[in-house]
Amino acid sequence: MADNKKTGGLAGVTAGKTALCTVGKEGAGLTYLGYDIYDLADNATFEEVAYLLLHGKLPTRAELDAYIAKIKSLRGLPDALKVVLEMIPADAHPMDVLRTGVSFLGNIEPEGDFSNQQETADRLLACLPSMMVYWHRFHTDGIRIDTETDDDSIAGHILHMLHDEAPSELHEKSLSTTLILYAEHEFNASTFAGRVITGTLSDMHSAVSGAIGALRGPLHGGANEAAMELIQRFANAEEATEGVLGMLERKELIMGFGHRVYTTSDPRNKVNKAMSKVLASEKGDMTLYEVSEAIEKVMWDEKKLFANADFFAASVYHFMGVPTYLFTPIFVCSRITGWAAHVMEQRADNKLIRPAAEYIGPALQEWVEIDDRD
Ligand code: ACO
Repeated sequence: MADNKKTGGLAGVTAGKTALCTVGKEGAGLTYLGYDIYDLADNATFEEVAYLLLHGKLPTRAELDAYIAKIKSLRGLPDALKVVLEMIPADAHPMDVLRTGVSFLGNIEPEGDFSNQQETADRLLACLPSMMVYWHRFHTDGIRIDTETDDDSIAGHILHMLHDEAPSELHEKSLSTTLILYAEHEFNASTFAGRVITGTLSDMHSAVSGAIGALRGPLHGGANEAAMELIQRFANAEEATEGVLGMLERKELIMGFGHRVYTTSDPRNKVNKAMSKVLASEKGDMTLYEVSEAIEKVMWDEKKLFANADFFAASVYHFMGVPTYLFTPIFVCSRITGWAAHVMEQRADNKLIRPAAEYIGPALQEWVEIDDRD
């Protein structure tokens, strides 16, 4: 049998084609439709990036204005969905809430034939943040929020619904930038799960529900939440260094480090780390940032493992007052763009995805009657 640790998990296998994204290719660490992630993070809004992924080109000013207006008009939640969100227990995980919310939306607003796929993608992009914060505020504050805010940006919309006031420019820009960085990442586990579902000619709600299920795990998107829990365990950098050395000795996984494709760094980390530092100084308390840096140093010195996109995204969200259990759901609010783009790309040249398995079970057995079995 092959050594699963070294060769399993489809590592290094090219499982299909995409025109949406390159990961870890020479010259640029991460690109969306040919645009370098650093250019997008510095210059674009998340809505421009969403348009790029879903329409295959950057919007003109007029196209972007129309797109922002359209997304704003789709933020409302149907009453039946609100009832479902209210019925989901307060101690549920919000990733499960979103999985159920998307699945339920597929019942009351079914995609039908695929001629409306663009509309379905836009609707999900617009209303996932509404679902997430509606459920959260209902169960933590006992209020039914109005999800139809007037904020132009999705980042502003999220922070406004969370905190009952429009965010500062810095917070809106920081959240928007993390949404840009999270938007797309080639054949990662959740996107691939979505493409497998799409390959059966299933609907977009099913593909996205499955993708949310895959993203939920701590080896994938769930790592940003786990990273925050780790950072908060330590009172200062010295404690963090000692604590993580002990964890490594006990062969524990340190969430927010390592990557299947990148070998020496995750290009998204540089941007998240810089934002984390700015937000920590705005708060006037550098402790969490220093703890994070100390963990990053130990991981590199001891294991040559680098922080991935999830590690510093955690403190960025924390500094903006986002509850930890919403970190991975915010990832969903961004990655919906990549998932939907992959659904459309898969449909445009579809082939059922059905690989083969190496059989490692028993040899052919003779049938034994039930009373004759040992
Ligand atoms: N902490 C400690 N050791 C690690 C870590 C880590 N975060 N990541 C990898 N290693 C070690 C493994 O234990 C293994 O050691 P060994 O060869 O001595 O057994 C070696 O590095 C190779 O790791 P694999 O798990 O085989 O690598 P794989 O490509 O399968 O996994 C993964 C990649 C899942 C991301 C892994 O690095 C990991 O578990 N990281 C923590 C979870 C995480 O941060 N996930 C987010 C990924 S990015 C994203 O989804 C946006």
